[in-house]
Amino acid sequence: MNKKIVRDVDASGKRVLMRVDFNVPMEDGQITDDTRIRAALPTINYLREEGALVILCAHLGRPKGQIVPEHSLAPVAARLSGLLDDEATFVDDCLGEQVAEAVGAAQPDDVILLENTRYYPGETSKDKQEMLAFAEKLAAPAQMYVNDAFGASHRKHASTFGVTKFLSPCVAGLLVEEELTKLQCVVDADQPGFIAVLGGAKVEDKIGVVKQLLPRVESLLIGGAMAWAFFKAEDMEVGESLCTEESVAGARDILATMSDYLDTMMLPVDVHMKNVSTGETKYAPADGIEPGWDALDIGPETQQKYAEIVRSAQVVFWNGPMGYFEEPPFDQGTLAVAKAMGECAGYNVVGGGDSVAAITQMGLADEMDHVSTGGGASLEFIENNGTLPAVEALDDSE
Ligand code: 3PG
Repeated sequence: MNKKIVRDVDASGKRVLMRVDFNVPMEDGQITDDTRIRAALPTINYLREEGALVILCAHLGRPKGQIVPEHSLAPVAARLSGLLDDEATFVDDCLGEQVAEAVGAAQPDDVILLENTRYYPGETSKDKQEMLAFAEKLAAPAQMYVNDAFGASHRKHASTFGVTKFLSPCVAGLLVEEELTKLQCVVDADQPGFIAVLGGAKVEDKIGVVKQLLPRVESLLIGGAMAWAFFKAEDMEVGESLCTEESVAGARDILATMSDYLDTMMLPVDVHMKNVSTGETKYAPADGIEPGWDALDIGPETQQKYAEIVRSAQVVFWNGPMGYFEEPPFDQGTLAVAKAMGECAGYNVVGGGDSVAAITQMGLADEMDHVSTGGGASLEFIENNGTLPAVEALDDSE
């Protein structure tokens, strides 16, 4: 890795601003999956052992510069305290007097969690001066910066990027180090034997990564609602299937610009669909989706085909479920791919987001070589050939 990591610098006695990705799923104020909090523990504990005061900052959701109580990090502070077996002090703001007071009262090796950085418009502002002005205030109480928020490292925001202009040294945390090392194997992979599986809904968010991967993979397997967008782009009937205009436009863009590589892209040959009026379910060939029917999963022939390809891969990268896995029996396509990933003797990586939720729900996460904590970040890392803006901003290793 060409960036300094936390082990390369002396943090003892320092006040460290550490950016973490605590953007955890919540339901009725309860955290439903604390993977991202657990993933930050090695760096937090490392810094504490070094005698550093750890000042954590993070975002939760997209409150768009407003104070939105549902997006408070207070429940995260409580869960963090439980996981640390020690009290993490929660501060109701991320800058200003309250923060200064909490930092002043803290002991070396204490942990402070600041309130959601996205409560301030400066955090995500496209106006560079506004973003940097906010970053300067956020950085003010600290003496050095650690970025351990892999999942937010594709964002050029004040807390991931701007603060590096005001603090020194700026280094990567242990989670970022691990993510970059493991995902680099996917960036370096080349055909034959390199397989990518992409699913989920939004083709428009994956145009870049599809274009990056298509010339390099042996096969790119498409599933989930992404596939229905490709069907519609090819003027096939998709009935009531989830298929936005943006996704269809994305699919058209790929079909028009990547014609030399389309042989490597595989679309489902059959689907599992549901009648929106009667609730009846049935399988159909891909060109057999009828009006009034909603394709919710890849069909059994596609499942078998995709599973065989995944099992024999040397390197496989997977992002996005193959169907509406939250509602059985439409979890079968995702389950087939997840099981095949587990059986694959090659190097297998699951790239964040809903596919992680799916394999966790299915109890298969331990079978993978790497399960990334960042969905958008892992896609952008691959798309940008192994770089992310918030990582590039850190100090170079000597
Ligand atoms: C994520 O959940 O993927 C990261 O925390 C980034 O969140 P964002 O897409 O709202 O920037």
